[in-house]
Amino acid sequence: MTTSIQPDLIRIFTTVQELQQQLAQDKEHGASIGFVPTMGALHEGHLSLMQRALAENDRCVCSIFVNPTQFNDPADLEKYPRMPEADIRLLEKCGVDYVLLPSVKEIYPDGFQLLQMDFGTLGSVMEGAHRPGHFLGMATVVKRLFDILQADRAYFGEKDFQQLAIVRNMVQQLNIPVEIIGCPTLREADGLALSSRNMLLNEAQRKAAPLIHKALLQVGTYIPHQTPAAIRELVIRYIQQSPLLHVQYFELVNPHTLASIESWEGHSEAQGCIAVLTEGPRLIDNMHYTF
Ligand code: PAF
Repeated sequence: MTTSIQPDLIRIFTTVQELQQQLAQDKEHGASIGFVPTMGALHEGHLSLMQRALAENDRCVCSIFVNPTQFNDPADLEKYPRMPEADIRLLEKCGVDYVLLPSVKEIYPDGFQLLQMDFGTLGSVMEGAHRPGHFLGMATVVKRLFDILQADRAYFGEKDFQQLAIVRNMVQQLNIPVEIIGCPTLREADGLALSSRNMLLNEAQRKAAPLIHKALLQVGTYIPHQTPAAIRELVIRYIQQSPLLHVQYFELVNPHTLASIESWEGHSEAQGCIAVLTEGPRLIDNMHYTF
């Protein structure tokens, strides 16, 4: 079924087939396609991806699909915010051409198999270690969406730094003809990285959460004077000055391989990646350092 809120502005597709028919027509006319995959609960960070896709392509397609296969925790899947009407209004304002809003069956027809791929260190550290199966589920849906759309470019936020590395690696391993474009993290005025999960923070957790960004900024002043291990301790102590935040991991890694950095020798850049548990949502963030 195809519905449209305002026919000339945005079209909403709930089936793969109808979206593919529309895109085939666009491609016949030489249109380039930019794609932004999302799980909805859209914020300014997502909209910045849409704006970039709109600027660099003739058509911009956004998918909204809360992908069950990438949730290793059923409670997290259940609580994940869903607000498709509000999302569509935002997308419409932004000028997005098409939205794919599929059912689970549409994305995963009977007999559909999860992708089986090895991402090496990229997939085994940090999020990979703490959220078993998450990246295979994420890569499965991204590959499925890439196969459906055959877009020229796809846009991902750098906030999910490890996800972006894995998507790039998947595209390379499987020779998928799409250009992957990473876009900078957007932040609230107090530094908290924009995330759909932020709306699940209560007032006290929300007040404490900017400590994460403050800690990441401080790390830049410690490198390379303190060892990575000492910096890790400082970050944990700094963030855990709030009893509402618990650091699940903080790693200083090679931004390309995600291998942990144990000494600064031979390194001139690093990525600090962090996951913090609250009694509400789990928060992740990262920052790039050159020295
Ligand atoms: O980053 C996300 O929102 C999701 O992981 C993605 C890329 C849309 C796949 O479900």
